[in-house]
Amino acid sequence: MQIAIDGPAGSGKSTIAKLVATKLGFIYCDTGAMYRTATVMAARLGLDYGDEAAIMAHLKDLDITFKPSPAGQLVFMAGEDVTLAIRQEETTNNVSQVSALPAVRAEMVRRQRQIAADHDIVMDGRDIGTTVLPNAELKIFMVASVATRAQRRHKENVEKGIMTPVATLEQEIAARDQKDSTRAVSPLRKAPDAIEIDSSNMTIDEEVQTIIDLVNKKRSKA
Ligand code: DC
Repeated sequence: MQIAIDGPAGSGKSTIAKLVATKLGFIYCDTGAMYRTATVMAARLGLDYGDEAAIMAHLKDLDITFKPSPAGQLVFMAGEDVTLAIRQEETTNNVSQVSALPAVRAEMVRRQRQIAADHDIVMDGRDIGTTVLPNAELKIFMVASVATRAQRRHKENVEKGIMTPVATLEQEIAARDQKDSTRAVSPLRKAPDAIEIDSSNMTIDEEVQTIIDLVNKKRSKA
């Protein structure tokens, strides 16, 4: 079974997708982490974030892998643990530019389909239900208000020692939404057959349970 979870930055989809995958015993694929890794690669090599040809020349052979660990899923770039590096502000503020490059998207979509090919999977991102896995049995589109999302990101950041004010985070989130939903290739949008969940006033347990109930409903119909 394929479960696609899409939604804007900070909608809580990664947290929920991970928990749903664990509960169901499915693998979890964080596609945002793949675009973030490509962004870290570009920064390390001193490439312009808009230089598609240069980024592709290096990305083609770049190994990006996920490994489960007791502390959560780790992300590796050519064997190096970049789990923390991909969450740094420099990466967060430039990933929209890298992820808007059509060739980068084509490469990532190809890899994501490969990962999903032989597994029961929960995959989260922006274009999973619309582009990567259009035949996913269950598609969720998660939304939450900008204020709620900024508060959540603030809390996560504080835990990591990053002290960006909430107002700045609100501006960054709104700017990223704008970029992600207006780009030419695979913009963020709800698939017509996706079920929208607004998590602004829900607990994590309620969100997870809502999705598990939807999975069970699908299974009982299959
Ligand atoms: O979910 P996230 O914040 O880690 O995503 C990082 C960036 O990658 C975000 O700006 C949008 C982009 N992205 C994308 O374009 N398509 C995806 N499937 C996942 C993420």
